[in-house]
Amino acid sequence: MHLSKALKEKYTKEQLSARDAQRLAEFIAWGPVVFQASRSMLKLGILDMLRDSDQGMTIDEVAERAGISPYAATVLLEASLSIGTVLVDPDTDRFSLAKAGWFLITDKATRANMDFNHDVNYIGWHRLQDALLEGRPAGLEHFGSWPTIYEGLSQLPADVQRSWFGFDHFYSDGSFDQALEIVFGRHPRTLLDVGGNTGRWASRCVAYDPDVQVTILDLPQQIEMMRKATDGMPGADRIHGHGINLLDPDAAFPAGSWDAIWMSQFLDCFSEPEIVSILRRAARVMGPDSRLYIMETLWDRQRFEPATLCLTMTSLYFTALANGNSRMYHSEVMERLVRKAGMEVETIHDGLGQGHSIMVCRLPEMEN
Ligand SMILES: C[S@@+](CC[C@H](N)C(=O)[O-])C[C@H]1O[C@@H](n2cnc3c(N)ncnc32)[C@H](O)[C@@H]1O
Repeated sequence: MHLSKALKEKYTKEQLSARDAQRLAEFIAWGPVVFQASRSMLKLGILDMLRDSDQGMTIDEVAERAGISPYAATVLLEASLSIGTVLVDPDTDRFSLAKAGWFLITDKATRANMDFNHDVNYIGWHRLQDALLEGRPAGLEHFGSWPTIYEGLSQLPADVQRSWFGFDHFYSDGSFDQALEIVFGRHPRTLLDVGGNTGRWASRCVAYDPDVQVTILDLPQQIEMMRKATDGMPGADRIHGHGINLLDPDAAFPAGSWDAIWMSQFLDCFSEPEIVSILRRAARVMGPDSRLYIMETLWDRQRFEPATLCLTMTSLYFTALANGNSRMYHSEVMERLVRKAGMEVETIHDGLGQGHSIMVCRLPEMEN
């Protein structure tokens, strides 16, 4: 397995002293309360008030300002000392913000991840081991009895939907500007947006190019959500919807001459054999000048290790909640699946937005 330099250092050799390793083991053992206490520090506004205080704050000042009892402020602040999000001055007993607390407040990815974990995943994580053993999203059951989360997306409670879309959109939205330049560099007239969800990419496409026609392929219930979300937008008349369940191996891609086929954060929703089946069906509606653009957060192509951590953890969301069998892929695996489906990878663009890559794929050139 190829690993970047940033990953090689951390993933191939032990980095920790015995004491640090023991601390990490305890951090894991107390993980749920580390998470919930830190989330309370955020939601009650305590981290914000510590950041804004010049001299730091006493427990009583925090309690009064946050509208909680001195007892509640004490347990939260003392736990946060151990977690590492706050510091205390032993002479004045005043608390201030530590670097990790600053990241919790200001890092947009951390905020999206935290909301996603609290609202979408937290209860489901209890069923991770069942999901691993049974190969199905056992952690989804408390929300409903759909085989995958995608079938239930439009029926999830409002706060759960908000955090799911917040997480999904946060990652993909940040890459769209660069992605538009790459895709529209070849001036496609027809674009198939596979797994186009609520139409955010499609609406960017029709705004970017006044002539392009975009067809979104997604589950019928998502097509309905997309129509509501894009209603009245400029260019919405050039966004078409096609309801389909691509898990059905007989569900063919709509016939047409597609200049571009776009799959953003889509193939990670499927197992390896399912990906090959979907890509084979995509290849059938491509011509020699068509290009398939696969935009994914590939875990081995991240510049910094914390991004890889987010991705390998997100894989477990797929296991426990989404479908039980997919994951965030290593680039070598994705390339192998593209080849197995009868296509070749022409180029890979890295470093878009929050760490996306775009694999540009084509049919193999015919030899005369
Ligand atoms: C993670 S979202 C990505 C959305 C969007 N492309 C983006 O980049 O933000 C995956 C999309 O694939 C769709 N999807 C999942 N399973 C599907 C299936 N079996 N058939 C068709 N679409 C599916 C979901 O409904 C969802 O819109």
